[in-house]
This record gives sequence, C-alpha cells and structure tokens, in this order.
Amino acid sequence: MKNILVTGGAGYVGSHVIVSLLEQGYGAVSADNLSNAAPEVYNRLRGLTGKDFAVVDADVCDETALARIIKDYDIWAVIHCAGYKAVPESIGKPLKYYENNLNSTIALCKVMRDAGVTRMVFSSSATVYGSPQFLPITERHPTGNCANPYGTSKVMNEQILTDTVAAYPDWGVVLLRYFNPIGAHPSGQIGDSPKIPLNIMPYLLQVMTGRLPVLPVTGNDYDTPDGTGVRDYLHICDLAEGHVAALKYLETFTGVEAVNLGAGQGTSVLEIVRAMENAIGKPIPTEVRPRRPGDVAAMWADAGKAKELFGWETKRSLEDMCADAWRWASQNPDGY
Ligand code: UD1
Repeated sequence: MKNILVTGGAGYVGSHVIVSLLEQGYGAVSADNLSNAAPEVYNRLRGLTGKDFAVVDADVCDETALARIIKDYDIWAVIHCAGYKAVPESIGKPLKYYENNLNSTIALCKVMRDAGVTRMVFSSSATVYGSPQFLPITERHPTGNCANPYGTSKVMNEQILTDTVAAYPDWGVVLLRYFNPIGAHPSGQIGDSPKIPLNIMPYLLQVMTGRLPVLPVTGNDYDTPDGTGVRDYLHICDLAEGHVAALKYLETFTGVEAVNLGAGQGTSVLEIVRAMENAIGKPIPTEVRPRRPGDVAAMWADAGKAKELFGWETKRSLEDMCADAWRWASQNPDGY
C-alpha cells in the first residue's frame, strides 16, 4: 500500500481527499496544525470510511516534524493542501500569507529531496489566471497579475515547484488549478466549516440556517447573461477524486504539469440560488450589493487536459452540490 502525506488533511479539501485516498486503497497521513480546522473531522472521517489513517499535529513549516513523518510512514507522495486562503485577510496581512504559504512549500520540498520522495500534487487555484483574457481558460492562459497576496502566493508556489522540478528531473509534480469547489460528502458528515463565510456557498448556507438574514448578491451589472458573476462550480468529491487521478498519473510521469480542475461550464450567482431553492423547496432571500473589489465577471475552465491526462471529469451535478451542501449544513449548523 502506498502512503500519501496530506498536508492540511483536516481542512475542507484535505478531508475530502483523504476519503478518496482511502476508498482507492491508499494509506493516508494528515499533517495539520488545526489553525483553521477542528480535530472532530478525523472522527467523522474514520466513521464514514470505516478505515483508519494517521494524524500528526504538525505545522507544515516545521522541517523536523515533516522529516519524521516521511520516515515513520514511508511516504510515497505528498498532496499539499495546507495554506492560508482568506482573500481579504491576505490583503491586510500579506507577510503572514507569504511567510506561511511559501515557507511550507519550501520546507516540504527540502525534506522530500533529502528523503528521496519525488512526487507531489499541489493545491493551486484558478486565481493564478488573474483577470481572464479568454474563455474557457486553458492551462496556457498567462498567470500572474493577481488581485491579492493569496493569489500571488499560489503563483509563487507554482514557480517554486517548477524550478525545483527543473533542478531534480526525477521529480513529478502536478499543479491542480481548482475552479470553485462547493458541496460536501453525501454522508453529511464532513463539509466546509469556515470561521467567517466569505465564499458564496458557506454564506448561502448560513442564510438557510437562519444565521444570516440575506444573501448579498455582489454585483448584478456584470456583462453576463443575468448580470451576476459566473464561475465554474464543481463538487468537492469530484475535486478530491481529481487528486487521486493525478497521483495515478504521477506513477510514471516526471516533470511539472499544471491542470485545471473544473466542470467546464459557467453558472451565475442567481442560477446557484435557484438550484438551492429547488433543492430545499423554499425561497432564499437575496439583496443586490455593490461588486466586490477584485472580482471578475466570468470565468470557467477548459477541463479537457484533466480528461486527456488523467481520464478525470466531473460526474456530479449542480443539484448534487446543493443537496449535499444542505445535508451537511442542516445536520451540522454549528460546523464541527
Ligand atoms: C474566491 C477568491 C479566489 C479563491 C476562491 C476559493 C476572490 C476575489 N476570489 O473565488 O481567489 O481561490 O474564492 O477560496 O475572493 N458572491 C455573492 N455573494 C457572496 C459571495 C460571493 O454574490 O456573499 C459571488 C461573487 O461575486 C462571485 C461568486 O459569488 O461572482 C463566487 O464567489 P466566491 O465563492 O467568493 O468565489 P470566487 O470569488 O470565485
């Protein structure tokens, strides 16, 4: 059995990745300092998969801790999900974001190099594309010019990994550029549990559970069919399975490859709200507000490369995303 180190394994993406790994016969080790996650997620994961995995309370910037994990668990590959991800906070605290998000990747690469671990899947983001120059966005679209330090930290991490692979040609690294993952595991046991809801789905769920009065629709005068922002939403379980597909690709691949993970189609804010209203059978209050600074009108992926290289494509619908997100939120209104 191949053991995979998942950094940020207690987070929204990392926890769903662990489910996919265990389902596909991999061993998993989570390294997470729980700075933005709850340990209860591990109990839920064991319950819903019926399988065990290792957990280490470690900061991913701590080289000594990482070296010990890699040795103790005979790690074959790393899925690097850990990082700070709140866009507005990154604008106010750029040094915190650069320090953590860059030092963790550098520490991981050093420890991997010293231990002879040559495979990594990195959690990147479609935010690296900045304001789209064409749609759908292929991996050849220019990167950089991000509107915030969070996005720039992803671009810089991609560069660090690209340069590292150039120096160590036996390495294989996949940079997964996520579009907009939403939803939750269909068991309702794990899901997104942010302290402050910034992204649309957590905000919507808080309105539905009565914690917030109304969903702000941030801009209805964009050049889009209904005037609201268009994004490429994909189910978190599809996203998680994309990581395992990338790992399988890395069994034989050396080099660095950036790959979009998206559904390949755009959905507007109002379309999401309508889909959620259909899923729960009641109206959701909305209110038009000004555009958020730095937001783009529309972006969606060309998802062809993931299909070509990994044989991966999304399987779950917008209805699944809404129904599963609501199951999670209604069963866990206070999160974990
Ligand atoms: C945001 C980040 C992106 C990050 C991603 C995942 C920004 C500018 N971008 O993407 O860098 O990788 O989250 O964390 O913050 N919307 C509303 N009401 C709300 C919230 C959002 O109408 O209360 C709209 C937005 O205007 C947008 C869409 O919903 O059109 C999606 O927003 P969001 O879920 O925050 O994702 P992104 O902005 O695409």
